[in-house]
Amino acid sequence: MPPARRFVSLGRDFELPISVKDTDQPANLNGMEGVAMDKKEDASISREEKQFGKLRPSRRDFLKGMGVSTAAAAMATVVVPQLEAETAPLVKGIREAVIVTEINGKKYRLAVKSHWTLLDVLRREIGLTGTKKTCDRSSCGACTVIMDGKAVFACSLLAVEADQRKITTIEALSEGETLHPIQAAFIREDAYQCGFCTPGMIMSTKALLDSNPRASMAEIKEALSGNICRCAAYPKITKAVLSLAQKA
Ligand code: FES
Ligand code: FES
Repeated sequence: MPPARRFVSLGRDFELPISVKDTDQPANLNGMEGVAMDKKEDASISREEKQFGKLRPSRRDFLKGMGVSTAAAAMATVVVPQLEAETAPLVKGIREAVIVTEINGKKYRLAVKSHWTLLDVLRREIGLTGTKKTCDRSSCGACTVIMDGKAVFACSLLAVEADQRKITTIEALSEGETLHPIQAAFIREDAYQCGFCTPGMIMSTKALLDSNPRASMAEIKEALSGNICRCAAYPKITKAVLSLAQKA
């Protein structure tokens, strides 16, 4: 009795005598053709090869090639020098930093995580929730604040970048019950609907008019181009800003 190998094919388990696999005769295995496919494939390649020469590698050639590449890859792994984990230098990422910043005229010394955004520090750590968090990815402008005189998106600045900077948020504009002229103009011109974009629009407007009090309509549109209003109140928003620029 020749030694046998076990095969599983199409969910069925059967034994195949080694001598059958090693002959050139296709084996009919209970009506299913398992290893015999190799032989058939080889036979058809031989016919083609007889007619056209060696057209493509046989399955056996392919498997041999795979074996060589796998062995080469294994050898390459051995050749690469391994880092000694115990002696490699330990690099610590910055996990926390202390920053000093001025927000709305008040000095703050803040311990912040290296991945915190300025927006999160303003809203969550200091409680200045007038600055809105909408897209959180520099797309809408709702989080606009002024840093050292420039309009910036607080969601896209790390808190550590505010170190030694002056930040102004929407909360700094009114004085008690008295609205800032920009806020008053937005109300007068009915320049909002839901109001969610309004703090960002107003801060962008303030940064513009602080540096260019007589801005033209083109300059106003350019300055507010990073602020999206989902309610599409743009005509009234730009009209409100223009009314201030024309009075200056
Ligand atoms: S929340 Fe910052 S740009 Fe939208
Ligand atoms: S007023 Fe609603 S998003 Fe601008």
